[in-house]
Amino acid sequence: MSVHVESKRMTTALIRQKKLTGDKITMLTSYDFTLARLVDQAGIDMFLVGDSASNVVCGNGTTLPITVDEMIFLTKGVVRAAQHTLVVIDMPFGSYQVSAEDAVRNAIKMLKESGADAVKLEGGEEILPAIQLMIAAGIPVCGHLGLTPQSVNQFGGYGLRAKEQAEAEKLLHDAQLLDQAGCFAIVLEKIPAALAEKVTKAVNCPTIGIGAGNKTDGQVLVLHDMLGLNQGFQPKFLRHFAELGEQVKTAVTSYVTAVHESSFPNENECY
Ligand code: KIV
Repeated sequence: MSVHVESKRMTTALIRQKKLTGDKITMLTSYDFTLARLVDQAGIDMFLVGDSASNVVCGNGTTLPITVDEMIFLTKGVVRAAQHTLVVIDMPFGSYQVSAEDAVRNAIKMLKESGADAVKLEGGEEILPAIQLMIAAGIPVCGHLGLTPQSVNQFGGYGLRAKEQAEAEKLLHDAQLLDQAGCFAIVLEKIPAALAEKVTKAVNCPTIGIGAGNKTDGQVLVLHDMLGLNQGFQPKFLRHFAELGEQVKTAVTSYVTAVHESSFPNENECY
C-alpha cells in the first residue's frame, strides 16, 4: 500500500509555470528555523540555503570552507520551518567539481539528509555532465551563472561579471545549455541588466537575478543583507528593506542598562 501525502509546498513545476504567467518569483536565503518560519509566514516562493552561510553564519571571508555536512545541518532547520516554501540547498565548493558521479552522490546525500527539494550549483558547460546526471536521477537543479563566488580565487574579487563580449557570449551559451539540460531555474549574479534580460528571453526556464536588473523572472537576496543585519555591506544592487542591525544594537543596549540598573526583571517578571 502506498501513502500519498499532498504537499502544500511550492514546487519546481509551479516555479517554471510562473515564467509563462509572468508572475515574478521571490527567493531569499535562509539558514535557520526561526527566521525561516517568519519568512515562510510572510510568503515567499523559494528559500535558498546558500553557501553564503559560510560568510553570514560562520564568519568566513569566502564561501569556500563550508562543507556538505554543515550545509545539511543548516538546511534541516529551514526545511522544518518551510510550510509553503520550496527549499533549495547550495552544493558547496568541492562537492560537485571532482567528477559527475561524485557530484550526483553528494546531491543525493544532501537531499536525503536535509529534506531539501532541489540543489543549486555554480557553473556552466564545465559541470554540464554532473547536472545531466542529477536531472536523470530525478534531482531538481537550479543553475548559477555570472558572479559565482566559489570561483573568487580565479576571478580575483567579487566585481561585475560578463562586461566583455566574450564572457557575455559564454554566459548566454551556458544558460542555454543549462536550460536544455532541464534546470528548473538559473540564478544570474552581478551581471549587466541588459545581458540578464537577453538571457531571460533566450531560455525557457526562469532566471532569478541578484545584481542583474529587474528584467529577470525573479529576484534573490541574502536575507541578512536585505534586513540590514550585515552592516557595512552595501553593494549598489542591495536594498535594505529594514534596519534590524540598528534595532538589535538598541535592544541589547537597553537590556544591558536595565540589568545594570536592576530594573530588569521587575516584579511582574518574577515568580
Ligand atoms: O549562497 C548564496 O547566498 C547565493 C546567492 C547570492 C544567490 O548563491
